[in-house]
Amino acid sequence: MKFFVDTADIAAIQDLASTGLLDGVTTNPSLIAQTGRDFIEVVKEIAELVDGPVSAEVTALTADKMIEEGRYLASLASNIAVKVPLTMDGLKACRALRDGGAMVNVTLCFSSNQALLAAKAGASFISPFLGRLDDVGEDGIALIEDIRQIYDNFGFETEILAASIRSPLHVRDAALAGADVATVPPKVLNQLIHHPLTDKGLDAFLKDWEATGQSILKGK
Ligand code: E4P
Repeated sequence: MKFFVDTADIAAIQDLASTGLLDGVTTNPSLIAQTGRDFIEVVKEIAELVDGPVSAEVTALTADKMIEEGRYLASLASNIAVKVPLTMDGLKACRALRDGGAMVNVTLCFSSNQALLAAKAGASFISPFLGRLDDVGEDGIALIEDIRQIYDNFGFETEILAASIRSPLHVRDAALAGADVATVPPKVLNQLIHHPLTDKGLDAFLKDWEATGQSILKGK
């Protein structure tokens, strides 16, 4: 499974990119607003930091305007994935942008029928929002399972991008459900590495090693 980070925070992206574990970045208008910076500048900077897809979202509501905004965003760097909302205008824009060669991430997906339509519109990525479904008492992971089954039934190549992830458990369950990508907030990405038994085991190994008085590099 690929890992994208869900943030527009340049320092956090730099930090994660240096681990070699980062396959891409997703942003949205709320995440851009949190930076207090110019949208276009931030997107260009992010696109230089990572090789993989960087999602940048249109804010127009009509297909024509979305296409115009999307073409401009796609022209900023070759790894931009234009993000469009799951509306009829968004799907029209998705088809036109895909026909023009741009990557498109269809966002705000909350049902398997919406995901089916996005795949028919040629989406590169579909973003089902797990956390927001769980928030209203629905099952976000069940949605991923349904989309996986539908896409496999018909051979759709649209990648399932599990979004609105709130915990390490969401990441594990999205992987088990067959999501191609998880877009994860920096805090959750960092939580994935930790296990108390790893820390405890490492402490014990180092204590025993210290007692030997040896150094691996001493004879180098
Ligand atoms: C994905 O592309 C979205 O930016 C994001 O995952 C939304 O997450 P939230 O529901 O935590 O805002």
